[in-house]
Amino acid sequence: MGYIRLCQILMLLIIIQSSTEDIRSFIMLKITGSKFNCTATTCLPFITSIVLNIRNCQIACLAQTQCDAASFHQSASMCELFADVSNQTENMLPNVDIITMIVESNTRIPQVSEPGTTTIQPSTAAMSTISACINMTIPVGQAPSMGWDFEGNLNDRFLIYNGTNGNKSIYTLGRYSCRKCLNLSSSLNQSVYIYGTPYIDLRNISFSVETWIKPTIVTDGMEHVILAQCGSLGSYQCMRVSIGSPGPMTFRFRSDTQTGLQNVSINVWSHLAYVYNKTAGTMALYLNGTLDKSGTGHGPYTGPPTFFQIGNIDSIGGLYYDGCIDDIFFYPFARTASDIAATFALG
Ligand SMILES: *[C@@H]1O[C@H](CO)[C@@H](O)[C@H](O)[C@H]1NC(C)=O
Ligand SMILES: *[C@@H]1O[C@H](CO)[C@@H](O)[C@H](O)[C@H]1NC(C)=O
Ligand SMILES: *[C@@H]1O[C@H](CO)[C@@H](O)[C@H](O)[C@H]1NC(C)=O
Ligand SMILES: *[C@@H]1O[C@H](CO)[C@@H](O)[C@H](O)[C@H]1NC(C)=O
Ligand SMILES: *[C@@H]1O[C@H](CO)[C@@H](O)[C@H](O)[C@H]1NC(C)=O
Ligand SMILES: *[C@@H]1O[C@H](CO)[C@@H](O)[C@H](O)[C@H]1NC(C)=O
Ligand SMILES: *[C@@H]1O[C@H](CO)[C@@H](O)[C@H](O)[C@H]1NC(C)=O
Ligand SMILES: *[C@@H]1O[C@H](CO)[C@@H](O)[C@H](O)[C@H]1NC(C)=O
Ligand SMILES: *[C@@H]1O[C@H](CO)[C@@H](O)[C@H](O)[C@H]1NC(C)=O
Ligand SMILES: *[C@@H]1O[C@H](CO)[C@@H](O)[C@H](O)[C@H]1NC(C)=O
Ligand SMILES: *[C@@H]1O[C@H](CO)[C@@H](O)[C@H](O)[C@H]1NC(C)=O
Repeated sequence: MGYIRLCQILMLLIIIQSSTEDIRSFIMLKITGSKFNCTATTCLPFITSIVLNIRNCQIACLAQTQCDAASFHQSASMCELFADVSNQTENMLPNVDIITMIVESNTRIPQVSEPGTTTIQPSTAAMSTISACINMTIPVGQAPSMGWDFEGNLNDRFLIYNGTNGNKSIYTLGRYSCRKCLNLSSSLNQSVYIYGTPYIDLRNISFSVETWIKPTIVTDGMEHVILAQCGSLGSYQCMRVSIGSPGPMTFRFRSDTQTGLQNVSINVWSHLAYVYNKTAGTMALYLNGTLDKSGTGHGPYTGPPTFFQIGNIDSIGGLYYDGCIDDIFFYPFARTASDIAATFALG
């Protein structure tokens, strides 16, 4: 059946219609790379439309009370909504282009008064007034090898590189109201350690780090580390991606630094991507999905493999991050500009 990924998505939809509020949510089972084996007319989609991205497809399903499932065709950005798929979920067909999402029974809030109804209600929601909430960001493109979404824990998305809480960091509300982020306080020397093995060997490879951050301290003249692997304090042996002094993105191997142009904003969410391309010897810094700065003649990193640290480098000390961090992803290859832009666009 190819690569099928299952994960749950919690959707929370707030539709503001004039002065009344309509808050809806449901939990969807997400099946990547498969579609319904739908031949009978009873299981044809009741709405087919072109949408901006997968989230808008999920929102469309949430807005239609009779929607039981949605299929998103990635290449065509097409969204199909299905009303009754109870008999279809057992025999799905593989299709790499299609992501199918099934509403878990009894998770839709508010409950539909007439379950199974085939009456099709026109959507009362205008897309511009909808804000949606999805548990996990699924990055566009080839999958990362480590990722932390900080939904109240420090677990790695792939359950290998779980974090260890250095100094009792806390979680607060993330980019969406049902999501959380890691809230680090520099005044409490908080950081997180990633002791999972095998240690990732950064020597002689291209790699990328991507994250959302909402920092509270930026331009204080200090460096604020987001993710680091510091094999030793020698030149080219201490890698970190950070907010540098006085405030732009900074990518360092030690004695080898690429600094960005724009200061990272304070108290708002920004998307940051750091890409090291070993073949080209470039470090590229992307802010909010677009290239901020790139430079050549960098690396490679030569430090011995060791643990990662989020929010500081203890062997240097005092490089604490302050504020929220969410959805850190590590990729053992250079991400493309278009995949970064598309991941940023997912929000
Ligand atoms: C999604 O978020 C909700 C609320 O925070 C949580 O209860 C649920 O376990 C999460 N699901 C996953 C798959 O993380
Ligand atoms: C699903 O299968 C059951 C039992 O085979 C049948 O009674 C029901 O009508 C089917 N539903 C649909 C929508 O085809
Ligand atoms: C898909 O549906 C057709 C027609 O009902 C059936 O012959 C076929 O076996 C189904 N395929 C799978 C994988 O269930
Ligand atoms: C990471 O945490 C998850 C959830 O607690 C657990 O199932 C998994 O075994 C952990 N991984 C390791 C390598 O300890
Ligand atoms: C926690 O913070 C204290 C200072 O309050 C510091 O001495 C200690 O090294 C920190 N512990 C860890 C594991 O970071
Ligand atoms: C944090 O660590 C620094 C040393 O790096 C230490 O001077 C300071 O007292 C620590 N802060 C707290 C709150 O313990
Ligand atoms: C990295 O590449 C250089 C040059 O090709 C080689 O000499 C060195 O052994 C490689 N190091 C590792 C750790 O693979
Ligand atoms: C970044 O912030 C520093 C300190 O506030 C300021 O001096 C500098 O001009 C800012 N840089 C940009 C590009 O805005
Ligand atoms: C990133 O975009 C957000 C709005 O989505 C904006 O508030 C923030 O200032 C931007 N970040 C930077 C560093 O420009
Ligand atoms: C990395 O650099 C090589 C050589 O310039 C180039 O062919 C390749 O497309 C670059 N990779 C990415 C993802 O930009
Ligand atoms: C992080 O937690 C502190 C309390 O320790 C709180 O004051 C602050 O607002 C939180 N930051 C964010 C970005 O939620």
